[in-house]
Amino acid sequence: MTVHDVGLASGDADLEQILALQAANLEPALGDTKDGFVTVRHTLPILRAMHALQPSVVARADGRVVAYALSMPKETRTLLPILTSFFAKLDELLPRERFYVMGQVCVDRAHRGTGVFDALFAAHREHYASRFDSLVTEIATRNVRSMRAHARVGFETIAAYRDEVDAWAVVAWRWGSAAS
Ligand SMILES: CC(C)(COP(=O)(O)OP(=O)(O)OC[C@H]1O[C@@H](n2cnc3c(N)ncnc32)[C@H](O)[C@@H]1OP(=O)(O)O)[C@@H](O)C(=O)NCCC(=O)NCCS
Repeated sequence: MTVHDVGLASGDADLEQILALQAANLEPALGDTKDGFVTVRHTLPILRAMHALQPSVVARADGRVVAYALSMPKETRTLLPILTSFFAKLDELLPRERFYVMGQVCVDRAHRGTGVFDALFAAHREHYASRFDSLVTEIATRNVRSMRAHARVGFETIAAYRDEVDAWAVVAWRWGSAAS
């Protein structure tokens, strides 16, 4: 069984490997989407700006990034125009909550179903639960694999909407609640 080293991203090499994993899992790059897909495309400068504010979590196997879950605190809201309306929606939904956004999660195909997804989120909680009440993200509802994996970790659906890109579930993992 592969041993994953899970922790905070630490430099450009990690960020470049995140971009490579992302590129392989964008919907247009995939033959089919039954095991999920990602929608938002980052760039190295955007990942660097995010990293400077709050490092993302990566899992490495043999020194290479094979999974990631990105940190996007509110200060990153202007970096990606595609996420502007999402951040605005969160202001309405969670006006008093100290939350940050998990901007995208991806596990390399060869490492899926190994528990690494759960380990990424355990690391988010370990590093950031002292500063935030909750971790929030949105998932295309047709991405059933991702919906199920997030529910298993403890995310609950708090809203749903459709835009020109997809139909989305907004999900939150509330660290303060008894269920978490
Ligand atoms: C989505 C993703 C991050 C999940 O990580 P993972 O390691 O594959 O997740 P797991 O295998 O631990 O959990 C998947 C869950 O979906 C279920 N599942 C597996 N294949 C499935 C499928 N084709 N359709 C529906 N559910 C499926 C599993 O049974 C498991 O649920 P369970 O624990 O209730 O039994 C990963 O598959 C991935 O990176 N996919 C491509 C990119 C992506 O979709 N990112 C998320 C964007 S929101």
